[in-house]
Amino acid sequence: MEVQFKIFRYDPAVDPGPYYRRYKVEARPEDRILDCLNRIKWEQDGTLSYRMSCAHGVCGSDGMKINGTCGLACQKLVKDYMCPEIVLEPLPVFKVLKDLLVDMDSFLQRINAVKPYLIGDKVPEKEIPQNPEERKKIDEVVRCILCACCTASCPVMGYNKSYVGPAAIVWMYRYIFDSRDSAHEERLAQADDPNGVWPCVNHFECTRVCPKEIPVTKSINTIKREIERLRTKE
Ligand code: SF4
Ligand code: SF4
Ligand code: FES
Repeated sequence: MEVQFKIFRYDPAVDPGPYYRRYKVEARPEDRILDCLNRIKWEQDGTLSYRMSCAHGVCGSDGMKINGTCGLACQKLVKDYMCPEIVLEPLPVFKVLKDLLVDMDSFLQRINAVKPYLIGDKVPEKEIPQNPEERKKIDEVVRCILCACCTASCPVMGYNKSYVGPAAIVWMYRYIFDSRDSAHEERLAQADDPNGVWPCVNHFECTRVCPKEIPVTKSINTIKREIERLRTKE
């Protein structure tokens, strides 16, 4: 079948402004959107830019807006969009570098600020044991592949550029509730910031778009409750 794509194009080095270009490709309903993008780039227009690597929902590099909703192009199929035209746009919130490529620096800086590694008093000589119940607490959040779909979809990010955003909070959660980490209170203090967990107003958009089905909003609310529990203890 023939599928029509309408793709956001913008090269700040040469274009006066963004525009959309239409392409037609032969595709099967079970083809991935990424397969179609590759066909367009390899057979019709080599100037089209986007990120991809694993093509199997693992690397998180091909997050984009597909018919208005953020997702991974390698996880969405043509048959998910049975409509006259499929619109591809860059992730919102971030600066466009070229076409579907966005600048991820601000996103990754937010993740780095969370100290995404175990903090301990000294380097352990052997592995730190963790029992199944302790591990269960972080089972869901360790699936994060840093695709940024949640942060790009969060309506709060649109008006509060200082908000740390849902992905960084998922990484806070991952270490706050990791039994092997010894910076529990320090991490909670970081989350208990006017631009930490509190700007979240439960839109659930982050949870809806997460390709790894991480309960993002629930994780944010669990941290809020942990902060309040600690406050009442003091
Ligand atoms: S639940 Fe919170 S973080 Fe997620 S989209 Fe809504 S406001 Fe943003
Ligand atoms: S929480 Fe989900 S949507 Fe957000 S960056 Fe991680 S994998 Fe992507
Ligand atoms: S290309 Fe790696 S997640 Fe899609």
